[in-house]
Amino acid sequence: MKILVTGGTGYIGSHTCVELLDNGYEVVIVDNLSNSKREVVDHIKEITKKDVRFYEGDVCDKTLMTKVFTENDIAAVIHFAGLKAVGESVKKPLLYYRNNIDSTLTLCEVMSEFGCKKIVFSSSATVYGSPKSLPIKEDFPLSTTNPYGSTKLYIEGILRDLYTSDNEWSIALLRYFNPIGAHKSGLIGENPNDVPNNLMPYIVKVATKELEILNIYGNDYDTKDGTGVRDYIHVVDLAKAHVKAIEKILRDRGVDAYNLGTGHGYSVLEIVETFKRVNGVDVPYRIVDRRPGDIAACYADSSYAKEKLGWTAEKEIDEMCADSFNFIKKNR
Ligand code: NAD
Ligand code: WQD
Repeated sequence: MKILVTGGTGYIGSHTCVELLDNGYEVVIVDNLSNSKREVVDHIKEITKKDVRFYEGDVCDKTLMTKVFTENDIAAVIHFAGLKAVGESVKKPLLYYRNNIDSTLTLCEVMSEFGCKKIVFSSSATVYGSPKSLPIKEDFPLSTTNPYGSTKLYIEGILRDLYTSDNEWSIALLRYFNPIGAHKSGLIGENPNDVPNNLMPYIVKVATKELEILNIYGNDYDTKDGTGVRDYIHVVDLAKAHVKAIEKILRDRGVDAYNLGTGHGYSVLEIVETFKRVNGVDVPYRIVDRRPGDIAACYADSSYAKEKLGWTAEKEIDEMCADSFNFIKKNR
């Protein structure tokens, strides 16, 4: 059975392709390589010893997407393709709205035309804005603080409207918390070209001395040690949840949202100390001002995903820190 994975050479997409192939699915990738490299396709093949069909191009390109569906009998789609840098989205909102929303509209139009009405969408914990209490459940109020987050919220709404208009659709909205880690092989992982925005890629570059020092954005939050608390989840656990979501949408119609996290909150200082201990490296840091738009703490109640998808995260924080560093050591 063929699954189309948009954004399949990206960080989460590549790990998901591996899990899909390991579970007997065939994989077709469409990616414009705006934030990933072609060699990832070979690495997915190397890990799984299976073939993958790769189309380099834009999901906003309807001619290309029609060709992909004409040439492949696609059973379901996982839609990762999107731009994801929060800060950039504030500076270039139109780019984010155009890319993230247009790609989804084009994809869904072509899916409709080909009678393929099963989609898993990469949403984000960012749709909860600043949560009133913790842990976060799926029925909490939704809001966003930046254009990137708004694209996720709008797309969730678009997909819900699509289901309302046509009950043959099966749609899973997966709200990821903070993915880190990498595949054990060290062949795929996250390695941003620019100065990283996210904590773990930044720590890794400080540990390898590519960057001098980690700026910790505030130690006066109302948290265990004053630094921000997040629900870090191993990317392989996240990838496995997509296989479960595919099984679910192949089985049942409807539209539903699922939190994908571990349920544990770790502070920035805890992550830094764990990373140092597990990898035996130094990570110099200094405390600086809070980052605008940051919230104090965020972690998931993922019991709904357990109940409906039969999925729970299994990997612990030590393994996440070790795998993140292992990938970068092999890909410096
Ligand atoms: P990523 O940038 O590594 O992967 C996204 C991929 O999509 C890239 O390979 C990029 O080249 C491709 N792409 C972007 N726009 C495209 C387009 N118009 N057509 C074709 N390809 C396009 O990001 P990721 O971390 O793997 O994230 C995957 C998805 O999950 C994104 O939608 C992101 O918003 C969402 N998400 C990520 C996180 C996170 O912290 N990494 C958290 C929550 C949600
Ligand atoms: C984690 C913690 C920072 C960098 C973002 C997006 C969210 C989602 C995941 C896609 C916070 C602190 C960070 C640094 C630091 N992406 N930090 N120094 O902010 O939870 O979420 O990525 O959907 O939408 O907003 O993740 O990794 O940036 O930050 O002190 O150099 O680390 O303040 O407490 P965040 P993050």
